[in-house]
Amino acid sequence: MYESLGPYTKNQLNKNVQWSLRKRTYNFDLAEKLINHNDAVIKNVTKNENSEQPKKTFGSITDEDIIKLKMEEKRKITWENKLFLSPLTTVGNLPFRRICKEFGADITCGEMAMCSALLQGAPQEWALVKRHKSEDVFGVQLCANNPHLLTKCGQLLQQECDIDFIDLNLGCPIDLVFKQGGGSGLLCRNRVLESCVRNLSDILHMPMSVKTRTGVYKDENIAHSLAPRFKDWGVSLITIHGRSREQRYTKSANWAYIREVAQAASPLPVFGNGDILSYEDYTNFRELAPEVQGVMIGRGALIKPWIFTEIKEQKLWDISSTERFDIIKKYANYGLEHWGSDNKGVENTRRFLLEWLSFLYRYIPVGVLEQPPQKINERPPFYMGRNELETLMASPSAADWIKITEMLLGKVPDGFHFLPKHKANSYN
Ligand SMILES: Cc1cc2nc3c(=O)[nH]c(=O)nc-3n(C[C@H](O)[C@H](O)[C@H](O)COP(=O)(O)O)c2cc1C
Repeated sequence: MYESLGPYTKNQLNKNVQWSLRKRTYNFDLAEKLINHNDAVIKNVTKNENSEQPKKTFGSITDEDIIKLKMEEKRKITWENKLFLSPLTTVGNLPFRRICKEFGADITCGEMAMCSALLQGAPQEWALVKRHKSEDVFGVQLCANNPHLLTKCGQLLQQECDIDFIDLNLGCPIDLVFKQGGGSGLLCRNRVLESCVRNLSDILHMPMSVKTRTGVYKDENIAHSLAPRFKDWGVSLITIHGRSREQRYTKSANWAYIREVAQAASPLPVFGNGDILSYEDYTNFRELAPEVQGVMIGRGALIKPWIFTEIKEQKLWDISSTERFDIIKKYANYGLEHWGSDNKGVENTRRFLLEWLSFLYRYIPVGVLEQPPQKINERPPFYMGRNELETLMASPSAADWIKITEMLLGKVPDGFHFLPKHKANSYN
């Protein structure tokens, strides 16, 4: 199964497995057999549908049929009413997820991992499947543009790792991924999408979920028409981010449409995702979309990881600057534990902390707001903190973020420069 990195971290890439992936000797017969079988079925059904002939069944049971797991034989996860921390590239690393778990996140997921790189045994991609022992319901999110890569990866992760579910990324808007037909690019390729979902679901003993957007274009919502098909193809949960690829973060998430998707998917559970930054947002959106079974939270958790506590305790928390600083301090410690406390580990911890600080500064303390709670798409007003630390943590300047890391990790090396990877500022 997995080698453990001490008692706390699972899913370390085993050297023999890495070797066989690099040498291309890992045995993927199971995945290949399944794809050939399923693709023949999909082709035949389509042919029969087109010629309006009665659908054929597929003869006697073959070994392909035997390896196919029926939905009811799969392990199950109770999704209802759970708080799901979004997969978050770069920032949703293991130390950050530990913090969110401590504040009450129920479900966590690794950052999007590219199947092609996992199949090559690339260490930086395998870092994305590591799981902390506190992550009791943990998924890995995969991105690929074809069923071969996905199904092989499903087989590989199932055999080599300890994971509770696999999520298929159908929302990534990045040009490079989209143009090659992965992420939200799969939404435009019906046949390939069907093959990806069916094959991945069939090879897994664990549940699979999909994370999608409303569609590709802003005026062409398609998630509601895909939703019932996802169920037929073997999906256990749909998460829908209520924006199209084209919209990125402009405009508010469309929760009325998220509701339509939940209605169309029923009884398959649907989670809503987009713009939750407070308990008030959470209750408003759940009232707007009562058929939705749970929510996923991304930027809300990056800006205020205690949002999970707020939702569970149904309150707005006027957290002090010292308490906030303690969270950052804890992250630095978790970072050093995870990335190492040698020079390289310290600088990795610093880089990832800086990425997180580029979101954290957007938090506006409850006590300084005229009309709490803060809304995710409102531009923060200029304000002075109630003390020096609160003012420092509100600074949009990378120089001040660096100063914060220096309070915890020592001086930056000479010539140090930092530019955040993600543009966190998308206000209406
Ligand atoms: C920094 C960052 C990284 C993200 N990385 C991923 C990712 O790896 N996979 C994914 O499906 N979505 C990713 N997303 C999208 C979020 O999961 C989520 O769908 C989106 O931010 C909307 O939810 P929110 O309003 O709660 O942030 C990312 C978003 C941000 C801000």
